Amino acid sequence: MEKELYLIGNFKMNLTKSDIIPYLKKIKKMAKNTNNHVGICVPYPYLCYAKKYLNHSNVLYGAQNLHYKESGAFTGEVSAEMLNDFNCDMVIIGHSERRNYYNETDDSVNLKVLKALSSNIVPIICVGESELEREKNETFKVIDNQIKKALKDVKVEDLSSVIFAYEPIWAIGTGKTATSEQAEEVISHIKKYICKLYKLKSTDLIVVLYGGSMNEKNATELLKMPSIDGGLIGGACLNLEKFGVIFNTKIND
Ligand code: 13P
Repeated sequence: MEKELYLIGNFKMNLTKSDIIPYLKKIKKMAKNTNNHVGICVPYPYLCYAKKYLNHSNVLYGAQNLHYKESGAFTGEVSAEMLNDFNCDMVIIGHSERRNYYNETDDSVNLKVLKALSSNIVPIICVGESELEREKNETFKVIDNQIKKALKDVKVEDLSSVIFAYEPIWAIGTGKTATSEQAEEVISHIKKYICKLYKLKSTDLIVVLYGGSMNEKNATELLKMPSIDGGLIGGACLNLEKFGVIFNTKIND
């Protein structure tokens, strides 16, 4: 079976209007003929431009966080209903930067996942271990716990509307990519673990991306690993030429 690849850029808190508008116009053209799924998660203020330039295009788009409540006194927060005003396809949830700098917890990740699903927005659930946890051989334990808590009350039929991203914290923005074997080992474990949780017979419907210093040079090697369904790309997606090389990766021939 041919593998479908998802290559999703996470802009984080980068670029401004003068960079983003030309980027959006260009990526729409560049992604026209790719066989892979291409997406970008932009800062909130630019979702209006993503909608303007990418709606009904080949490029999926979305946000990097959301609040799990519908509305209320939550200064600075953005709801799923607001994201729906911009026709967001997806939203990143539980990125390690949010877990580490903004007290995102497994419980809030779970509430956000449920909110995204009930709002028809694909949650991209991020999990990953720290360097210390890896050194202590706790990688699988940490990730299993993050996944189990993120998926609390998520129904089996919703699993095909979820994307998971394995992002080892030690590989994010460090230039220190996990080797393709390390990424494959964890991602294949994640798939088996989710199968076990839901008593599934096959891992076919589970989509897991790798994130952490993926670039135009190492993408093919990572993406050709059997369990890796794509990449969540930070730094390298900011340069559209580099991102283009990544999202045009061909592994099926
Ligand atoms: P880098 O590609 O910059 O390491 O970031 C990865 C990431 O955090 C994507 O969400």
